[in-house]
Amino acid sequence: MKEEFLPIRLAIFASGKGSNTREIIRYFHEQGHLVLGQRVEISLVVSNKAGAGVLDIAASAGIPTLLIEKEEFFRGSHYLEEFKKRGISFIVLAGFLWKIPSALIRAYPDRILNIHPALLPLFGGKGMYGSAVHEAVVAARERQSGITIHYVDEQYDHGRIFFQASFNLSDDETPETLAEKIHALEYKHFPEQIARWVECKLSLNP
Ligand code: GRF
Repeated sequence: MKEEFLPIRLAIFASGKGSNTREIIRYFHEQGHLVLGQRVEISLVVSNKAGAGVLDIAASAGIPTLLIEKEEFFRGSHYLEEFKKRGISFIVLAGFLWKIPSALIRAYPDRILNIHPALLPLFGGKGMYGSAVHEAVVAARERQSGITIHYVDEQYDHGRIFFQASFNLSDDETPETLAEKIHALEYKHFPEQIARWVECKLSLNP
């Protein structure tokens, strides 16, 4: 088979309900967005949580899933070999709560992207996920919040920022209303920004 017909293979790591994963699948699989004329295939959904909603989303889209085990994930190259064997060249974290081991970061330099539901460097770091982020933003009476898409390094929510989008909070904002607005912003931008990132990397290093 000629090179141009091979899809670009991407893995999504997620531990939660998987609404971002659903949007990414919709964008690349159902709407068929291409990157540099090539198809992007979500080839694998990786989760550390049995029963996570994201596994159902993957299964109903016919996407293979991999349930990972903590010691094995942090110990060595077992999963890394698995990703390479499946031809994965990009990894997206969409609500994945474990730190990414150095070996994986080294194997995928600038090829692992995470989304965070606030404007980093504010409201990031260990324990800052889900409703804790929105509660902290509202409690701090921030005038703005938004989303950050960034490269992954060895620290939580720390790598180089790739993209941010923000909006003004309303006077009666609650963590719940904020969570809803953030999710809508994620769905709007994350798939498109993944496409921009893949294009950027492939243009530099085909
Ligand atoms: C998103 O808000 C994302 O920013 C954060 O985890 C959440 C995942 O939500 N990293 P979902 O599982 O995609 O619905």
